[in-house]
Amino acid sequence: MALKITVIGTGYLGATHAAAMAELGFEVLGLDVVPEKIEMLATGRVPMYEPGLEELLRKHVAGIEGSTGRLRFTTSWEEVGEFGDVHFVCVNTPQKHGEYACDMSYVDAAFASLAPRLTRPALVVGKSTVPVGSADRLAALLDERAPGDVELAWNPEFLREGFAVDDTLHPDRIVVGVRSEAAEKLLREVYATPVAEGSPFVVTDFPTAELVKTAANSFLATKISFINAMAEVCEAAGGDVAKLAEAIGHDERIGKKFLRAGVGFGGGCLPKDIRAFMARAGELGADQALTFLREVDSINMRRRGHMVELAREAVGGSSFLGKRVAVLGATFKPDSDDVRDSPALNVAGQIHLQGGQVTVYDPKGMDNARRLFPTLGYADSAPEAVRGADVVLHLTEWREFRDLDPAELGKLVTTPIILDGRNALDPDQWREAGWTYRAMGRPRA
Ligand code: UGA
Repeated sequence: MALKITVIGTGYLGATHAAAMAELGFEVLGLDVVPEKIEMLATGRVPMYEPGLEELLRKHVAGIEGSTGRLRFTTSWEEVGEFGDVHFVCVNTPQKHGEYACDMSYVDAAFASLAPRLTRPALVVGKSTVPVGSADRLAALLDERAPGDVELAWNPEFLREGFAVDDTLHPDRIVVGVRSEAAEKLLREVYATPVAEGSPFVVTDFPTAELVKTAANSFLATKISFINAMAEVCEAAGGDVAKLAEAIGHDERIGKKFLRAGVGFGGGCLPKDIRAFMARAGELGADQALTFLREVDSINMRRRGHMVELAREAVGGSSFLGKRVAVLGATFKPDSDDVRDSPALNVAGQIHLQGGQVTVYDPKGMDNARRLFPTLGYADSAPEAVRGADVVLHLTEWREFRDLDPAELGKLVTTPIILDGRNALDPDQWREAGWTYRAMGRPRA
């Protein structure tokens, strides 16, 4: 009999995990406490933009013509408790309001709702990013409140938005924190297909599994802030950070990836994860070990201010009043509609608040951007956004922006100045078309 799997929480992580589990051949039941989300998913629609996810979902959601019918959704905890052999908890852990620490209320609520419904033997698997020590606490809660024979495991997730489906079906590693061989065996069964395809399977204790996740995101954040610090030095010394990154990246120990200087990292993970990690280390008396993350965070936040200053300089050096600023990009990265802690929107917002007339365009993030920043101006296309602009800011590196024709765009603006906040456009192409091209950490032409 195929394992029966439930997925609790159907955001980016949960919706993708549920569809991927169905793809791997399991019977899957997804739960969310928001009925509108469940209604959408149950008809094969995804409440966010994630390439390939809707197709995968439609392939498996019960009731859709031609689907395998292996994937269903519910809002009923009773149904989840009765159904699952393995329950994946995928709810979000945002930053607490006014604090660095992580808000565990959604995880705690999920465990509190699930535990009393676990009447038959089951493995509960935490996937949310949590402060180290949470798994120990939640295991004790299950021992106390679950009526059946229930065990906990911790299995952090490393998927990237924009690549969520691929990262989930073909993970570059699977990490499981377990307390028994039985739990390990069950998780090996769940992940048999990717393991057979070569994904390494790393077995650890609870604290290590929790730490792997925050350590990985901290390392990635550090790599980005490192190259952005080099960009600052390059600007001061007249060097070129793109060349520098290419050259150091040839050293295999350093590697080329995550060395793109620009307006820095954003999104729902990296910024809040490094802050929660610092907060937790403080509670554990290990705060000194992570003081460098404070610097990583402040280098990153400085990038946004620096971009505002470059834009100010471009429009004459003093004030944004009466100046038209076009912003290409609203999401925190391309191939996503996620605008959480987006550097692009942050910069757009700062300029708007200083009196600039800002017009934003993004291929997929418009609805979310409008909800978050209703007072900004929005356009339906890149050419519309740049019309009459005194300066154009390229802040999210969508392919659509790389494919723009600088000569055509040049006819629409008031002043052809482009500031590349992602070091992703071709400087020669823009300069040849008559633009003043400036990028962060690179020499002026
Ligand atoms: C990140 C991690 O990469 C995933 O492994 C992890 O699972 C996920 O967080 C999570 O914790 O859920 P994600 O937030 O989707 O994934 O985004 P990334 O691709 O890591 O990019 C983060 C930010 O860094 C973006 O704003 C991106 O534009 C920026 N970035 C990335 C740079 O500024 N420079 C680079 O060289 C690379």
